[in-house]
Amino acid sequence: MSNTFRYSAVVCCLLLTAITGFFLLPIEVPIQSTMSTRNEIDLVEYRKRGEYLARAGNCISCHTVENGKPMAGGLPFETPFGTLYSTNITPDPETGIGTWSEQDFFNSLRQGVRPDGQHLYPVFPFTAFTKLTNSDITSLFAYLRTIEPVRQSAPENELRFPYNLRMLIGLWKNLYFEAGEFQADPDQSDIWNQGAYLVEALAHCGTCHSPRNRLGAIQPEFTMSGGEYLDQVPDGHYRLWSAPNLTGSDRGLGLWSPSHLREYLKTSRNAFLESFGPMNEVILNGTSHLTSDDIDLMVIYLKSLPAIETELTVRPDPQVIGRGRTVYNLHCGTCHLPTGEGDPEMAPRLNQGSLVVQSASPASMINVILYGPQLSNHSLDSQWRESMGEFQYLLDDEEVAAAATYVRNSWDNSAGLVTPEQVARQR
Ligand code: HEC
Ligand code: HEC
Ligand code: HEC
Repeated sequence: MSNTFRYSAVVCCLLLTAITGFFLLPIEVPIQSTMSTRNEIDLVEYRKRGEYLARAGNCISCHTVENGKPMAGGLPFETPFGTLYSTNITPDPETGIGTWSEQDFFNSLRQGVRPDGQHLYPVFPFTAFTKLTNSDITSLFAYLRTIEPVRQSAPENELRFPYNLRMLIGLWKNLYFEAGEFQADPDQSDIWNQGAYLVEALAHCGTCHSPRNRLGAIQPEFTMSGGEYLDQVPDGHYRLWSAPNLTGSDRGLGLWSPSHLREYLKTSRNAFLESFGPMNEVILNGTSHLTSDDIDLMVIYLKSLPAIETELTVRPDPQVIGRGRTVYNLHCGTCHLPTGEGDPEMAPRLNQGSLVVQSASPASMINVILYGPQLSNHSLDSQWRESMGEFQYLLDDEEVAAAATYVRNSWDNSAGLVTPEQVARQR
């Protein structure tokens, strides 16, 4: 981000903050009743539902560090604005949310504000959770009260000025955030709306799979057409990942049948591939725990999304393609086959529906080649005879770029050029 941009943003933000001094005011949300007035039978039901919703919302993946206590927070998030840590949401009274009222919890999910009126950063996907129904928020709260309290504070955030000023999020919200429960689309069926609720409000697929502007807000007209963000690669470093287009595009989810998607979300694999990278947690901690009925609803909604076509990057010249073919046939073709069709025992197909290959941004594909696809820790028998190794020491930037370009523009793929500079950035 350029300095000029940063400073004009600061001036602009401070001015606006001065003019409209209401950003820090806590926002009151009317709710029907409080936990204490509910009877025990209701409470058991709420807790059960809350546990299920917490799975669907994948709270655990973001609020738990590796080998740490569940929901005790402390997981770092690298953003273009600095590092932010998730907080402790166990019922510990000092370091968690043990003293929070149900209203406090409500305000955090619906409005993205803390009990003291401070704004929460939208890395916490309250932009999706705001759509939850009152009763689902109550259920989540009831469930979170039952988990083991853990005394552990999150490390201090390391965000650069001015992004470390929480009050600026108030401005951000004025521009980009609308609080409020999910509104069913009356032109669509009940089933479709239930699927939309699961995908948009709970599973928040769009938070990764949508493009964002320079201030980190989703561009609404391109929702679900693919996004980029920073996450860990197998060696622990944070690198750019691309989350592919989930609309009906031929370079997106349009390439998968409903059953391919159903299987993938339920088990982390389908007839031709297996999950790897950031999707492992989304599936293992999240969607794989959902009922088949709920997965079906999500699939109905997802498969109905009209195609949003992303712009093609530059078309590669034949020289690069030729070089890429050589690298591919030498290093990749034994498993993925020279036709790109894959071998059911060795490797997935790279034609006909590899979303990662066809993604507008090649970041995830480059990660797979450099570091190997880190598969999920599921309990299924291995599908592949051997794993794909890492190529970071074997191939240089130009070779990786050429191989990736060849794959992205061969067979029925057309996803544009990958440059050596793009590869260098991922190392
Ligand atoms: C994508 C990662 C992510 C997911 C998924 C996520 N959270 Fe968070 N959450 C965060 C981060 C990061 C923060 C800290 C935000 C900040 O400091 O402004 C946070 C903060 C919170 C807070 C405010 C806590 C405080 O001390 O102010 C609550 C409450 C919360 N999350 C609940 C949940 C629940 C419930 C779920 C699941 C339904 C969930 N979160 C899912 C990342 C996530
Ligand atoms: C934390 C960010 C994140 C969230 C949340 C997320 N995805 Fe993804 N998704 C990714 C990334 C990154 C990739 C590409 C690399 C990979 O597969 O891990 C991806 C890949 C995919 C693929 C293509 C897999 C392939 O190998 O071709 C599908 C399908 C998909 N996601 C569906 C979903 C659905 C449905 C949801 C919501 C339930 C979802 N994703 C939520 C980040 C995310
Ligand atoms: C030893 C066999 C083997 C070799 C050699 C190999 N791969 Fe793979 N590749 C795999 C396996 C196995 C996966 C499975 C991951 C999965 O199930 O998603 C994979 C996954 C991929 C994916 C992700 C596909 C998707 O949609 O999820 C891409 C892209 C890829 N390989 C490209 C390459 C390229 C380019 C090369 C050469 C530089 C290469 N592979 C070499 C076995 C191999």
